[in-house]
Amino acid sequence: MESFIQLRKGTTPRQVHRDLDGLKEDEMGRSGFTGRTTFFYRRNDPSKYRVEGDLRPLDVQTGTLEPSDLHDAAGEPLPLLSNDDCRILLSRRGQAAPFYERNVDGDELYFVHRGTGHFETEFGRLAYRPGDYVYLPKATTYRQVPDGESHLLIVEAREEFRVPEAGAIGRYFPYDPALITIPEPEVFEEPRRDEHEIRLRHLGGRTSLFTPHHPLDAEGWRGDNVAFTFNIDDYDVITSESVHLPPTVHLFMQATGVYVMNFLPRPAEMVPGVERIPWYHRNVDYDEVAFYHGGSVFGVDMPEGLLSVVPQGIHHGIPERARERSRRRFDVDQRVEWKVIAIDTRRRLTPSRALLDAALGEGA
Ligand SMILES: [Fe+2]
Repeated sequence: MESFIQLRKGTTPRQVHRDLDGLKEDEMGRSGFTGRTTFFYRRNDPSKYRVEGDLRPLDVQTGTLEPSDLHDAAGEPLPLLSNDDCRILLSRRGQAAPFYERNVDGDELYFVHRGTGHFETEFGRLAYRPGDYVYLPKATTYRQVPDGESHLLIVEAREEFRVPEAGAIGRYFPYDPALITIPEPEVFEEPRRDEHEIRLRHLGGRTSLFTPHHPLDAEGWRGDNVAFTFNIDDYDVITSESVHLPPTVHLFMQATGVYVMNFLPRPAEMVPGVERIPWYHRNVDYDEVAFYHGGSVFGVDMPEGLLSVVPQGIHHGIPERARERSRRRFDVDQRVEWKVIAIDTRRRLTPSRALLDAALGEGA
């Protein structure tokens, strides 16, 4: 429900996200950052609390997790989080699998954190490198062939991934869809086998199909349901000099209940008094997952490979000392250099046992 009413009570700044005068700005809004909302201006940091119980922010260094595909060619990615709309998994595949894969329950969007290699698909060959998204439409048959160990985050969505609505800024922003890489048809003949296994990825069981011929044998294809890659270097960040924009500006792909965003290097906000760090919030309607790909912000390196999960309705935000540092360095810093992949989900995510064990082991 939209409303034209904007109430203002007590002590508030003239404009949001600036001139806080020591108060802590805290948003409680619906529909992520696009619905009805209220900003509180508090005396204390709302992200300071102690948790007892099941709902808690989790931080896990994914470099410490070992999916079975790390050491075993026949292994598989490790599920990290799931709900009825999506799953998030980690792959650290070190060798090509002896089987082919086909996800019959959802689209797959891989994000390449580290490593190079290629995907053999029914559409042809797709090379990958760090910063690539690799999109594989639901039920595509494929095999990942890494050059060495790769470190990939996988977002599996039940409904199909789509580009965001064009909206006010049109179809070519924040990225030009023509910059995706589409494979050329290729008939794969290796490896030669009497029988080829296609392992189906699906909910509630295990299934393999066995074909007497190589499954990647298309001489050609035509249509618009196609695998592709897109590198974050080709993403154009939307910025403002006078206000810190909400994360939804940085949307890359979306499926029902799942939004994938890129927070990437850009000029810093430059008008004096403007906050450069996202305000505190408790994202009322969305769980938030952040994956730190790299870079730095105001002189502090990002924790590469860290996965951070915050359940909806629970306060979070960059620590107060970092906010003070960003204000102190206002004249020093001209740019934000972070590279963070964010996944927001409408339904509550359930962490896997492996993720919980790792998070609790790291003191979350
Ligand atoms: Fe958030």
